[in-house]
Amino acid sequence: MDSKIFLTEKEMPQAWYNLQADLPWEVPPPMDPGTKEPLTPDKLYPIFPKSLVAQEMSRDRWVEIPDKLLDIYKIWRPTPLQRAEKLEKFLKTPARIYYKNESVSPPGSHKPNTAVAQAYYNKQEGVERISTETGAGQWGSALAFACNMFDMECIVYMVKISYQQKPYRKSLMHIWNADVYPSPTDRTESGRMMLQKYPDSHGSLGMAISEAVEEAAKNENTKYSLGSVLNHVLLHQTIVGLETQKQLAIAEEDPDILIGCVGGGSNFAGFFFPFVSDKLKGKDIRFIAIESTACPTFTKGQYRYDYGDTVGLTPLLKMYTLGHNFVPAPIHAGGLRYHGDAPLLSLVAHHKLMEAVAYQQNPVFEAASIFARTEGIIPAPETAHAVKCVIDEAIKCREEKKEKCIVFNFSGHGHFDLSSYDKYLSKELKDYAHPEEEIEKAIKELPQI
Ligand SMILES: Cc1ncc(COP(=O)(O)O)c(C=O)c1O
Repeated sequence: MDSKIFLTEKEMPQAWYNLQADLPWEVPPPMDPGTKEPLTPDKLYPIFPKSLVAQEMSRDRWVEIPDKLLDIYKIWRPTPLQRAEKLEKFLKTPARIYYKNESVSPPGSHKPNTAVAQAYYNKQEGVERISTETGAGQWGSALAFACNMFDMECIVYMVKISYQQKPYRKSLMHIWNADVYPSPTDRTESGRMMLQKYPDSHGSLGMAISEAVEEAAKNENTKYSLGSVLNHVLLHQTIVGLETQKQLAIAEEDPDILIGCVGGGSNFAGFFFPFVSDKLKGKDIRFIAIESTACPTFTKGQYRYDYGDTVGLTPLLKMYTLGHNFVPAPIHAGGLRYHGDAPLLSLVAHHKLMEAVAYQQNPVFEAASIFARTEGIIPAPETAHAVKCVIDEAIKCREEKKEKCIVFNFSGHGHFDLSSYDKYLSKELKDYAHPEEEIEKAIKELPQI
Protein backbone atom coordinates (compact mmCIF):
# COMPACT_ATOMS: atom_id res chain seq x y z
CA MET A 1 0.00 0.00 0.00
CA ASP A 2 1.26 3.51 -0.84
CA SER A 3 2.00 5.67 2.16
CA LYS A 4 0.07 8.61 0.65
CA ILE A 5 -3.55 8.16 -0.36
CA PHE A 6 -4.72 10.62 -2.99
CA LEU A 7 -8.15 11.29 -4.47
CA THR A 8 -8.53 12.66 -7.97
CA GLU A 9 -10.14 16.08 -8.42
CA LYS A 10 -13.25 14.32 -9.75
CA GLU A 11 -13.49 12.36 -6.49
CA MET A 12 -13.63 15.55 -4.41
CA PRO A 13 -16.89 15.72 -2.39
CA GLN A 14 -19.55 17.79 -4.19
CA ALA A 15 -21.53 18.73 -1.04
CA TRP A 16 -20.76 19.65 2.57
CA TYR A 17 -22.26 17.58 5.40
CA ASN A 18 -24.51 19.11 8.07
CA LEU A 19 -24.34 17.05 11.28
CA GLN A 20 -27.45 18.80 12.63
CA ALA A 21 -29.56 16.63 10.31
CA ASP A 22 -28.44 13.47 12.15
CA LEU A 23 -28.13 14.59 15.78
CA PRO A 24 -30.97 13.59 18.09
CA TRP A 25 -30.61 16.96 19.89
CA GLU A 26 -31.24 20.52 18.68
CA VAL A 27 -28.48 23.11 18.96
CA PRO A 28 -29.75 25.70 21.50
CA PRO A 29 -30.60 28.84 19.48
CA PRO A 30 -28.35 31.91 19.45
CA MET A 31 -29.84 34.70 21.61
CA ASP A 32 -30.19 38.37 20.82
CA PRO A 33 -27.68 40.24 23.06
CA GLY A 34 -30.25 43.01 23.63
CA THR A 35 -33.52 41.16 24.27
CA LYS A 36 -31.99 37.81 25.37
CA GLU A 37 -34.64 36.16 23.15
CA PRO A 38 -33.84 33.72 20.30
CA LEU A 39 -32.26 35.59 17.44
CA THR A 40 -34.19 36.09 14.20
CA PRO A 41 -32.22 35.81 10.92
CA ASP A 42 -32.81 39.47 10.00
CA LYS A 43 -30.68 40.52 13.01
CA LEU A 44 -27.69 38.89 11.33
CA TYR A 45 -28.17 40.48 7.90
CA PRO A 46 -26.23 43.69 8.73
CA ILE A 47 -23.06 41.65 9.28
CA PHE A 48 -23.47 38.42 7.23
CA PRO A 49 -24.79 37.75 3.70
CA LYS A 50 -28.23 36.11 3.57
CA SER A 51 -26.97 32.88 2.01
CA LEU A 52 -24.57 32.28 4.91
CA VAL A 53 -27.28 33.10 7.46
CA ALA A 54 -29.45 30.48 5.70
CA GLN A 55 -26.61 27.93 5.97
CA GLU A 56 -26.17 28.87 9.63
CA MET A 57 -29.82 27.97 10.35
CA SER A 58 -30.11 25.05 7.89
CA ARG A 59 -31.01 21.53 9.02
CA ASP A 60 -30.46 20.04 5.53
CA ARG A 61 -28.10 17.07 5.59
CA TRP A 62 -26.19 18.06 2.43
CA VAL A 63 -25.36 21.52 1.05
CA GLU A 64 -24.11 21.51 -2.53
CA ILE A 65 -20.71 23.12 -3.18
CA PRO A 66 -20.99 25.62 -6.09
CA ASP A 67 -18.89 24.80 -9.19
CA LYS A 68 -16.93 28.05 -8.97
CA LEU A 69 -15.85 27.07 -5.46
CA LEU A 70 -14.94 23.51 -6.43
CA ASP A 71 -12.71 25.09 -9.06
CA ILE A 72 -10.89 27.18 -6.42
CA TYR A 73 -10.69 24.22 -4.02
CA LYS A 74 -8.78 22.41 -6.80
CA ILE A 75 -5.81 24.73 -6.19
CA TRP A 76 -4.96 22.51 -3.17
CA ARG A 77 -7.74 19.90 -2.78
CA PRO A 78 -8.18 16.97 -2.46
CA THR A 79 -5.46 16.95 0.21
CA PRO A 80 -3.45 13.77 0.84
CA LEU A 81 -4.06 11.32 3.67
CA GLN A 82 -0.64 10.13 4.71
CA ARG A 83 0.54 7.16 6.77
CA ALA A 84 3.09 8.29 9.38
CA GLU A 85 5.21 5.13 9.10
CA LYS A 86 8.46 6.73 10.21
CA LEU A 87 6.78 8.07 13.34
CA GLU A 88 5.27 4.60 13.99
CA LYS A 89 8.76 3.03 13.70
CA PHE A 90 10.30 5.64 16.00
CA LEU A 91 7.61 4.99 18.62
CA LYS A 92 7.85 1.19 18.12
CA THR A 93 4.08 1.14 18.18
CA PRO A 94 1.79 -1.46 16.61
CA ALA A 95 -0.70 1.42 15.95
CA ARG A 96 -1.23 2.61 12.37
CA ILE A 97 -1.10 6.41 12.28
CA TYR A 98 -2.52 8.52 9.45
CA TYR A 99 -2.70 12.28 9.05
CA LYS A 100 -4.94 14.33 6.80
CA ASN A 101 -2.56 16.97 5.51
CA GLU A 102 -4.41 20.30 5.39
CA SER A 103 -1.10 22.19 5.47
CA VAL A 104 -0.82 21.97 1.66
CA SER A 105 -3.20 24.91 1.05
CA PRO A 106 -1.60 28.21 -0.08
CA PRO A 107 -1.89 29.86 3.38
CA GLY A 108 -0.78 26.57 4.99
CA SER A 109 -3.85 25.40 6.92
CA HIS A 110 -7.46 24.17 6.78
CA LYS A 111 -8.75 27.74 7.10
CA PRO A 112 -9.21 28.52 3.36
CA ASN A 113 -11.84 25.73 3.11
CA THR A 114 -14.30 28.15 4.67
CA ALA A 115 -12.56 31.42 3.68
CA VAL A 116 -13.09 30.90 -0.05
CA ALA A 117 -16.68 29.74 0.57
CA GLN A 118 -17.46 32.83 2.65
CA ALA A 119 -15.82 35.20 0.13
CA TYR A 120 -17.80 33.51 -2.67
CA TYR A 121 -21.22 33.96 -0.99
CA ASN A 122 -20.41 37.57 0.00
CA LYS A 123 -19.35 38.36 -3.58
CA GLN A 124 -22.61 36.82 -4.89
CA GLU A 125 -24.55 39.33 -2.78
CA GLY A 126 -22.53 42.36 -3.93
CA VAL A 127 -20.40 42.83 -0.79
CA GLU A 128 -17.17 44.76 -1.53
CA ARG A 129 -15.19 44.49 1.74
CA ILE A 130 -14.88 41.81 4.41
CA SER A 131 -13.62 42.48 7.93
CA THR A 132 -12.30 39.85 10.30
CA GLU A 133 -10.06 39.13 13.27
CA THR A 134 -7.13 36.76 13.39
CA GLY A 135 -5.25 35.13 16.23
CA ALA A 136 -2.21 33.29 14.93
CA GLY A 137 -2.59 34.93 11.53
CA GLN A 138 -3.64 31.68 9.85
CA TRP A 139 -7.26 32.77 9.48
CA GLY A 140 -6.38 36.33 8.42
CA SER A 141 -4.05 35.04 5.72
CA ALA A 142 -6.67 32.51 4.56
CA LEU A 143 -9.33 35.22 4.23
CA ALA A 144 -6.83 37.56 2.53
CA PHE A 145 -6.11 34.76 0.01
CA ALA A 146 -9.85 34.16 -0.50
CA CYS A 147 -10.83 37.84 -0.90
CA ASN A 148 -8.00 38.28 -3.38
CA MET A 149 -9.41 35.36 -5.43
CA PHE A 150 -12.74 37.22 -5.65
CA ASP A 151 -11.33 40.76 -6.04
CA MET A 152 -12.64 41.97 -2.69
CA GLU A 153 -11.07 44.16 0.00
CA CYS A 154 -10.07 42.47 3.26
CA ILE A 155 -9.61 44.24 6.64
CA VAL A 156 -7.90 42.16 9.33
CA TYR A 157 -7.72 42.95 13.06
CA MET A 158 -4.79 40.85 14.25
CA VAL A 159 -4.30 40.07 17.97
CA LYS A 160 -1.42 42.37 18.95
CA ILE A 161 0.86 39.66 20.40
CA SER A 162 0.65 37.64 17.16
CA TYR A 163 1.16 40.79 15.07
CA GLN A 164 4.45 41.20 16.93
CA GLN A 165 5.41 37.49 17.04
CA LYS A 166 4.49 36.64 13.43
CA PRO A 167 5.59 39.39 11.06
CA TYR A 168 5.58 36.99 8.08
CA ARG A 169 1.89 36.10 8.47
CA LYS A 170 1.33 39.84 8.08
CA SER A 171 3.50 39.81 4.93
CA LEU A 172 1.34 37.01 3.47
CA MET A 173 -1.79 39.08 4.09
CA HIS A 174 -0.16 42.11 2.47
CA ILE A 175 0.86 40.06 -0.59
CA TRP A 176 -2.81 39.03 -0.94
CA ASN A 177 -3.79 42.73 -0.72
CA ALA A 178 -5.33 42.81 2.79
CA ASP A 179 -5.05 45.68 5.32
CA VAL A 180 -3.84 44.44 8.73
CA TYR A 181 -4.09 46.26 12.09
CA PRO A 182 -2.75 45.21 15.55
CA SER A 183 -5.77 44.86 17.86
CA PRO A 184 -6.79 46.58 20.10
CA THR A 185 -6.54 49.61 17.76
CA ASP A 186 -7.76 53.16 18.06
CA ARG A 187 -9.71 52.76 14.76
CA THR A 188 -12.90 51.52 16.43
CA GLU A 189 -14.95 52.47 19.47
CA SER A 190 -14.51 48.97 20.92
CA GLY A 191 -10.74 49.17 20.43
CA ARG A 192 -10.51 52.58 22.11
CA MET A 193 -12.61 51.33 25.03
CA MET A 194 -10.33 48.32 25.42
CA LEU A 195 -7.16 50.41 25.25
CA GLN A 196 -8.52 52.61 28.00
CA LYS A 197 -9.31 49.58 30.20
CA TYR A 198 -6.14 47.57 29.40
CA PRO A 199 -3.52 50.00 27.96
CA ASP A 200 -0.78 47.30 27.80
CA SER A 201 -3.04 44.59 26.43
CA HIS A 202 -1.54 41.84 24.25
CA GLY A 203 -4.98 41.66 22.67
CA SER A 204 -7.27 38.67 22.46
CA LEU A 205 -9.49 37.09 19.84
CA GLY A 206 -12.54 38.37 21.75
CA MET A 207 -11.28 41.95 21.48
CA ALA A 208 -10.35 41.65 17.80
CA ILE A 209 -13.81 40.20 17.03
CA SER A 210 -15.46 43.25 18.64
CA GLU A 211 -13.42 45.52 16.36
CA ALA A 212 -14.09 43.53 13.18
CA VAL A 213 -17.84 43.26 13.88
CA GLU A 214 -18.01 47.01 14.50
CA GLU A 215 -16.18 47.66 11.20
CA ALA A 216 -18.88 45.67 9.36
CA ALA A 217 -21.82 47.10 11.29
CA LYS A 218 -20.73 50.69 10.58
CA ASN A 219 -19.90 50.33 6.87
CA GLU A 220 -22.63 49.66 4.34
CA ASN A 221 -20.38 47.84 1.83
CA THR A 222 -18.66 45.67 4.48
CA LYS A 223 -19.62 42.32 6.01
CA TYR A 224 -17.94 40.38 8.76
CA SER A 225 -16.45 36.93 8.48
CA LEU A 226 -15.58 34.47 11.27
CA GLY A 227 -12.99 31.72 10.79
CA SER A 228 -14.39 29.24 13.30
CA VAL A 229 -17.20 28.58 15.83
CA LEU A 230 -20.29 29.19 13.65
CA ASN A 231 -22.34 26.36 12.09
CA HIS A 232 -21.63 27.41 8.51
CA VAL A 233 -17.87 27.44 9.15
CA LEU A 234 -17.98 23.90 10.55
CA LEU A 235 -20.16 22.91 7.58
CA HIS A 236 -17.54 24.11 5.05
CA GLN A 237 -14.79 22.27 6.93
CA THR A 238 -16.58 18.91 6.60
CA ILE A 239 -14.93 18.54 3.19
CA VAL A 240 -11.89 17.44 5.24
CA GLY A 241 -13.69 14.57 6.98
CA LEU A 242 -15.59 13.54 3.84
CA GLU A 243 -12.34 13.19 1.89
CA THR A 244 -10.77 11.33 4.82
CA GLN A 245 -13.63 8.81 4.80
CA LYS A 246 -13.07 8.07 1.10
CA GLN A 247 -9.30 7.78 1.60
CA LEU A 248 -9.62 5.43 4.59
CA ALA A 249 -11.93 3.24 2.50
CA ILE A 250 -9.22 3.06 -0.20
CA ALA A 251 -6.66 2.10 2.47
CA GLU A 252 -9.18 -0.49 3.80
CA GLU A 253 -8.90 1.08 7.24
CA ASP A 254 -11.56 1.43 9.90
CA PRO A 255 -10.43 4.15 12.32
CA ASP A 256 -10.47 3.59 16.10
CA ILE A 257 -9.47 7.11 17.18
CA LEU A 258 -9.82 10.50 15.47
CA ILE A 259 -7.83 13.38 16.96
CA GLY A 260 -7.70 17.13 16.31
CA CYS A 261 -6.73 20.34 18.08
CA VAL A 262 -9.43 22.81 19.06
CA GLY A 263 -9.39 26.61 19.05
CA GLY A 264 -12.95 27.51 18.12
CA GLY A 265 -13.46 23.95 16.89
CA SER A 266 -13.61 24.17 13.08
CA ASN A 267 -10.79 21.87 11.95
CA PHE A 268 -11.63 19.12 14.41
CA ALA A 269 -15.40 19.32 13.80
CA GLY A 270 -14.93 19.33 10.02
CA PHE A 271 -12.67 16.32 10.35
CA PHE A 272 -14.79 14.06 12.59
CA PHE A 273 -18.42 15.16 12.10
CA PRO A 274 -18.89 12.86 9.07
CA PHE A 275 -17.96 9.93 11.37
CA VAL A 276 -20.41 10.83 14.18
CA SER A 277 -23.47 9.08 12.76
CA ASP A 278 -21.52 5.76 12.90
CA LYS A 279 -20.91 6.37 16.60
CA LEU A 280 -24.57 7.22 17.13
CA LYS A 281 -25.38 3.83 15.59
CA GLY A 282 -23.16 2.15 18.18
CA LYS A 283 -19.75 1.97 16.48
CA ASP A 284 -16.77 1.88 18.86
CA ILE A 285 -14.81 4.98 17.79
CA ARG A 286 -13.24 7.72 19.92
CA PHE A 287 -13.06 11.41 19.03
CA ILE A 288 -10.45 13.36 21.04
CA ALA A 289 -10.26 17.17 21.06
CA ILE A 290 -7.00 18.72 22.21
CA GLU A 291 -6.67 22.14 23.76
CA SER A 292 -4.05 24.14 25.64
CA THR A 293 -3.90 24.28 29.45
CA ALA A 294 -3.59 28.06 28.91
CA CYS A 295 -7.10 28.09 27.40
CA PRO A 296 -8.87 24.99 28.77
CA THR A 297 -12.36 25.65 27.37
CA PHE A 298 -13.66 22.07 27.21
CA THR A 299 -11.71 20.68 30.16
CA LYS A 300 -12.35 23.56 32.64
CA GLY A 301 -15.06 25.76 31.10
CA GLN A 302 -18.83 25.61 31.56
CA TYR A 303 -21.60 24.84 29.03
CA ARG A 304 -23.41 28.19 29.19
CA TYR A 305 -24.72 31.04 27.06
CA ASP A 306 -21.97 33.61 26.50
CA TYR A 307 -20.97 36.36 24.10
CA GLY A 308 -18.61 35.50 21.27
CA ASP A 309 -16.59 38.69 21.84
CA THR A 310 -15.28 40.73 24.75
CA VAL A 311 -17.49 43.79 24.41
CA GLY A 312 -20.78 41.88 23.99
CA LEU A 313 -21.68 42.87 20.42
CA THR A 314 -22.23 39.32 19.13
CA PRO A 315 -25.24 37.05 19.70
CA LEU A 316 -25.14 34.89 22.83
CA LEU A 317 -24.15 31.32 22.00
CA LYS A 318 -24.58 28.21 24.14
CA MET A 319 -21.09 26.80 24.28
CA TYR A 320 -18.28 25.66 26.52
CA THR A 321 -16.74 28.93 27.66
CA LEU A 322 -14.20 30.42 30.01
CA GLY A 323 -16.14 33.70 30.01
CA HIS A 324 -15.96 36.49 27.43
CA ASN A 325 -13.71 38.54 29.74
CA PHE A 326 -11.08 35.79 29.67
CA VAL A 327 -7.73 37.27 28.55
CA PRO A 328 -5.39 34.39 27.74
CA ALA A 329 -1.68 34.25 28.47
CA PRO A 330 0.48 34.90 25.40
CA ILE A 331 1.24 31.23 24.66
CA HIS A 332 2.55 30.43 21.21
CA ALA A 333 -0.44 28.56 19.84
CA GLY A 334 -2.28 31.80 19.11
CA GLY A 335 -5.10 29.94 17.36
CA LEU A 336 -6.03 28.04 20.53
CA ARG A 337 -6.63 31.16 22.62
CA TYR A 338 -10.36 31.68 22.06
CA HIS A 339 -12.58 31.77 25.19
CA GLY A 340 -15.42 29.68 23.67
CA ASP A 341 -16.03 26.68 21.42
CA ALA A 342 -18.38 26.09 18.51
CA PRO A 343 -21.98 25.56 19.77
CA LEU A 344 -22.42 22.47 17.57
CA LEU A 345 -19.17 20.92 18.80
CA SER A 346 -20.09 21.93 22.38
CA LEU A 347 -23.41 20.09 22.01
CA VAL A 348 -21.58 16.96 20.83
CA ALA A 349 -19.19 17.27 23.79
CA HIS A 350 -22.04 17.90 26.25
CA HIS A 351 -23.63 14.61 25.18
CA LYS A 352 -20.28 12.89 25.67
CA LEU A 353 -19.79 11.83 22.06
CA MET A 354 -16.26 13.23 22.23
CA GLU A 355 -13.49 13.58 24.81
CA ALA A 356 -11.18 16.51 25.51
CA VAL A 357 -7.60 16.71 26.81
CA ALA A 358 -5.46 19.78 27.60
CA TYR A 359 -1.65 19.90 27.28
CA GLN A 360 1.14 22.22 28.46
CA GLN A 361 3.18 23.78 25.70
CA ASN A 362 6.64 22.24 26.35
CA PRO A 363 5.46 18.62 25.92
CA VAL A 364 3.51 19.81 22.87
CA PHE A 365 6.63 21.26 21.21
CA GLU A 366 8.56 18.12 22.18
CA ALA A 367 5.96 16.01 20.34
CA ALA A 368 6.02 18.39 17.35
CA SER A 369 9.82 18.10 17.19
CA ILE A 370 9.57 14.28 17.17
CA PHE A 371 7.09 14.56 14.28
CA ALA A 372 9.34 17.00 12.39
CA ARG A 373 12.37 14.72 12.88
CA THR A 374 10.57 11.56 11.76
CA GLU A 375 7.97 12.66 9.19
CA GLY A 376 9.83 15.81 8.14
CA ILE A 377 6.91 18.24 8.27
CA ILE A 378 6.88 20.99 10.91
CA PRO A 379 3.47 21.22 12.59
CA ALA A 380 1.87 24.57 13.44
CA PRO A 381 1.87 25.02 17.25
CA GLU A 382 -1.92 24.43 17.23
CA THR A 383 -1.56 21.21 15.22
CA ALA A 384 1.28 20.17 17.53
CA HIS A 385 -1.31 19.75 20.32
CA ALA A 386 -2.97 17.02 18.24
CA VAL A 387 0.42 15.44 17.51
CA LYS A 388 1.12 15.18 21.26
CA CYS A 389 -2.10 13.23 21.78
CA VAL A 390 -1.39 10.98 18.77
CA ILE A 391 2.01 10.09 20.24
CA ASP A 392 0.50 9.43 23.70
CA GLU A 393 -2.19 7.17 22.22
CA ALA A 394 0.35 5.33 20.04
CA ILE A 395 2.55 4.70 23.09
CA LYS A 396 -0.52 3.37 24.92
CA CYS A 397 -1.05 0.96 22.00
CA ARG A 398 2.57 -0.19 22.38
CA GLU A 399 2.15 -0.78 26.12
CA GLU A 400 -1.19 -2.55 25.71
CA LYS A 401 -0.04 -4.37 22.53
CA LYS A 402 -3.04 -3.09 20.58
CA GLU A 403 -3.06 -2.46 16.82
CA LYS A 404 -5.31 0.59 16.64
CA CYS A 405 -5.84 2.86 13.67
CA ILE A 406 -5.27 6.48 14.78
CA VAL A 407 -6.11 9.29 12.35
CA PHE A 408 -5.54 12.98 12.97
CA ASN A 409 -6.10 16.28 11.25
CA PHE A 410 -2.79 17.93 10.43
CA SER A 411 -4.45 21.35 10.44
CA GLY A 412 -1.44 23.45 9.42
CA HIS A 413 2.33 23.78 9.04
CA GLY A 414 4.54 25.85 11.31
CA HIS A 415 6.74 27.62 8.76
CA PHE A 416 5.71 31.00 10.14
CA ASP A 417 6.00 29.86 13.75
CA LEU A 418 9.72 29.17 13.84
CA SER A 419 10.35 31.80 16.54
CA SER A 420 8.18 29.66 18.85
CA TYR A 421 10.28 26.60 17.96
CA ASP A 422 13.43 28.65 18.64
CA LYS A 423 12.11 29.50 22.11
CA TYR A 424 11.36 25.82 22.76
CA LEU A 425 14.82 24.71 21.55
CA SER A 426 16.56 27.32 23.72
CA LYS A 427 14.44 26.27 26.74
CA GLU A 428 12.76 29.68 27.05
CA LEU A 429 9.19 28.38 26.73
CA LYS A 430 7.24 28.42 29.96
CA ASP A 431 4.49 25.94 30.73
CA TYR A 432 1.31 27.64 31.81
CA ALA A 433 -2.06 26.58 33.15
CA HIS A 434 -4.78 29.20 33.38
CA PRO A 435 -5.44 29.67 37.16
CA GLU A 436 -8.68 28.20 38.55
CA GLU A 437 -9.54 31.43 40.41
CA GLU A 438 -9.35 33.44 37.16
CA ILE A 439 -11.70 30.96 35.52
CA GLU A 440 -14.15 31.15 38.45
CA LYS A 441 -14.05 34.97 38.28
CA ALA A 442 -14.72 35.08 34.52
CA ILE A 443 -17.52 32.50 34.80
CA LYS A 444 -19.24 34.68 37.46
CA GLU A 445 -19.41 37.48 34.86
CA LEU A 446 -21.39 35.34 32.39
CA PRO A 447 -24.78 36.72 31.40
CA GLN A 448 -27.79 35.04 33.05
CA ILE A 449 -30.04 33.36 30.46
C1 LIG B 1 -3.19 25.56 12.06
C2 LIG B 1 -4.35 25.79 12.95
N1 LIG B 1 -4.96 24.73 13.52
C3 LIG B 1 -6.01 24.89 14.35
C4 LIG B 1 -6.50 26.13 14.67
C5 LIG B 1 -7.63 26.23 15.62
O1 LIG B 1 -8.80 26.71 15.06
P1 LIG B 1 -10.08 25.78 14.85
O2 LIG B 1 -10.35 25.12 16.17
O3 LIG B 1 -11.17 26.66 14.42
O4 LIG B 1 -9.72 24.79 13.81
C6 LIG B 1 -5.91 27.27 14.10
C7 LIG B 1 -6.43 28.62 14.40
O5 LIG B 1 -5.91 29.62 14.03
C8 LIG B 1 -4.81 27.08 13.23
O6 LIG B 1 -4.20 28.14 12.68
